[in-house]
Amino acid sequence: MSSMEVTKASAAVLLAGIAFLGSQLIADALVKPKLLEHVAIKIDLPEKGVPAVATAAAPEEPIAVLLASADAGRGEAGVKAQGCVSCHNFNEGGKAGVGPNLYGVIGAPHGHQEGYIYSAALKAKAGPWTFEEMNDWLRKPSAYAPGTKMSYAGLADQKKRADIIAYLRSLSHDPLPLPAAPAQAAGATPAVARVAGAAPAAGTQTAAAQAGAAPAPAPATPPAGAPPAAAPANDSVALLASASPDAGKAATARLGCVACHSLNEGGKNGLGPNLYGVVGAQQGGHAEGYAYSAALKAKGGKWDYAELDKWLLKPSAYAPGTKMSYAGITDPKVRADVISYLRSLSAEPLPLPN
Ligand code: HEC
Ligand code: HEC
Repeated sequence: MSSMEVTKASAAVLLAGIAFLGSQLIADALVKPKLLEHVAIKIDLPEKGVPAVATAAAPEEPIAVLLASADAGRGEAGVKAQGCVSCHNFNEGGKAGVGPNLYGVIGAPHGHQEGYIYSAALKAKAGPWTFEEMNDWLRKPSAYAPGTKMSYAGLADQKKRADIIAYLRSLSHDPLPLPAAPAQAAGATPAVARVAGAAPAAGTQTAAAQAGAAPAPAPATPPAGAPPAAAPANDSVALLASASPDAGKAATARLGCVACHSLNEGGKNGLGPNLYGVVGAQQGGHAEGYAYSAALKAKGGKWDYAELDKWLLKPSAYAPGTKMSYAGITDPKVRADVISYLRSLSAEPLPLPN
């Protein structure tokens, strides 16, 4: 009996010991993860921890925003990690492999390497490789150009894609200017602004700069945050005399107009109407066979310089209900360049205003 009690007693002691030890372990286990959590948060904080949340929840950021924080060095590593290098050569003058050489591809026409045999699917794409098109292509080649012979599933991670595009952009003696932020600014949500602000590469930019300024291309007009709204609507008309059709042509590629519009004489309508000869033409009527929105048809006037200026400043404000989904060009100088380029697309350009 007493030995039984001894056993019971020692069992009790043992149990207590185990319980004590157990509670220690549990306490440890409870405390340690807490510590880890703190560390994890501390690591996240310098990067603001926002991007991960934003990418998980939101639709993709515009490529202009992504490129502002993209890194060509990471992109170079990316083309290795993604296996692009097994089919593509990236050095100047490099030979084609399974796929074409990719030096200088950004800004070049689709199917840019001479002598390489492209699929009909890719050859059928008009216009140059803009940042946006490259972004769509790399997201899912088979969706962008059904029937393409590039057997690559696509890269879902928008930041990795932007890094690769930044790398492709760097493969040139004269890299295409980064897309202007103003065109996107109107659509920028606070989340977008935060993501851009959190990016290491954008660390030198101030919030004001991000809200209104292009990363680089137009040093002549230091945009001061508010001017788009404050500036008189037709102020690009005065700039037409000194505008450059060539700069305007480059801008239509950079700003992505070419993704929706053909600009050559007799060119096909795309998402938007062909724009050859639009200056001076009937509003919402000049491209034959194109189904304009009621909003644009209702304008009923001519595309003179002042009307084009207002339209390109903010299509949705000029013709509410328009089907041109484009935020607008906030920089009057860029607007003037684009209009002077559009003006040049004619056998008999409209005289300049005096
Ligand atoms: C399995 C081989 C293969 C892989 C992997 C591959 N590509 Fe391609 N790529 C091709 C082929 C083939 C074409 C030509 C497509 C056509 O003609 O339809 C092409 C075309 C392209 C073009 C268009 C070039 C032009 O001149 O218009 C770009 C840009 C491109 N690839 C980028 C990439 C990038 C970036 C990656 C990695 C993320 C990648 N490719 C991975 C085979 C590949
Ligand atoms: C996402 C596609 C898209 C982009 C990008 C785009 N446009 Fe458009 N554009 C359209 C559509 C669609 C229309 C027809 C609008 C309507 O009917 O309401 C249009 C109409 C126009 C018109 C009027 C044409 C006419 O025949 O009356 C002009 C001029 C124009 N766009 C210029 C531009 C310029 C310049 C850019 C670049 C700064 C640009 N667009 C960017 C889709 C686009």
